[in-house]
Amino acid sequence: MEAISEKDLELEDGEDSCSEEGSEASGSVDEYVLPRDPKERDRLNVQHELWKKVMKGICPMPKDALDEFLAAKTNPAIMDLGSGSGVWAVEMAQVYPSARVVGIDLVAAVPPPIPPNCLFVPGSLTGGTCMMWAQYDIVHARLLVDRIKGEVAKEAAINRAVLCLRSGGIIILSNYEEFFVDSDKNPLPPAQDTGNNSSRSWCTRLVAEAFRRPGDRLLGDFYHRCLAKNVKVEKGSVNSEFHYIPVGWDGGEGDAGKEIGEMGRRHAHELFDTCKGILKSKGVLQEKIDHWFDKAQEEISGDQSESKRIFHAVRSVWARKL
Ligand SMILES: C[S@@+](CC[C@H](N)C(=O)[O-])C[C@H]1O[C@@H](n2cnc3c(N)ncnc32)[C@H](O)[C@@H]1O
Repeated sequence: MEAISEKDLELEDGEDSCSEEGSEASGSVDEYVLPRDPKERDRLNVQHELWKKVMKGICPMPKDALDEFLAAKTNPAIMDLGSGSGVWAVEMAQVYPSARVVGIDLVAAVPPPIPPNCLFVPGSLTGGTCMMWAQYDIVHARLLVDRIKGEVAKEAAINRAVLCLRSGGIIILSNYEEFFVDSDKNPLPPAQDTGNNSSRSWCTRLVAEAFRRPGDRLLGDFYHRCLAKNVKVEKGSVNSEFHYIPVGWDGGEGDAGKEIGEMGRRHAHELFDTCKGILKSKGVLQEKIDHWFDKAQEEISGDQSESKRIFHAVRSVWARKL
């Protein structure tokens, strides 16, 4: 396939690049607090491998359904919104060589080598930049919508993402839920400074402090509601699924789960390290940061009295545009 260029992204005849609807929907402020450095890029790549193992594929929706959907398209087009290191877009381009895959991020990634059917361009889902309306069969946004501040802005961003789809196209949104869950998949809200924390989690607390979240919301339910009430989304087409990443234990799967559990622990450690940096940059007292970090580490250590068997819960929601 010929390499695609930014020219290929130009709008089809008669399409308005900045429709009223899209412009009105923007108007929000990004709250992007993660660092953009090689260490963070490596963490995103480790996380990508972990998610692939847990989801048994590159996408949360069933692989057969995705293969069938893309095989039925003549020139399938896929957009990865908030493409980060670019790893998802590159792999999708490799797995589906007949598709055109475009990664969009505030800062365009340049992951070498880029397959000829893949391109990265700078852009913002929340405003400033014109998005490419009605051009894609799949719009994928992983770990992006939770970065947008406030429910109104989040919903507007989801609606903008839907507008990038062609008729019949599929939007796929994935995020961690705000809380870690116990071995029975019950939510563990943030641990508190005093009192009994047996049904709470320091991992939830550390992440909630870093990203300034309550630590008790089901983001997936919110995404589900937004898509279900969007008039451009086919009624009854909204699906969702949880995937659970064991952190430092086998997830109840015995030997089969050990590798994922170990990857889960390594990734959690890197995430907690990132949280430390974020909290420091926000001016939180080092003493407090170290305390939350040590407690979270203890919880996933597996060999201390305060350790817990926990999962990091990922929720994915997908739906079809009318
Ligand atoms: C946590 S990273 C996830 C990256 C990638 N989706 C993944 O799963 O590895 C979030 C990414 O979203 C990008 N981002 C944040 N706000 C954005 C916006 N308004 N429009 C486009 N990208 C945005 C950030 O630059 C960052 O690369």
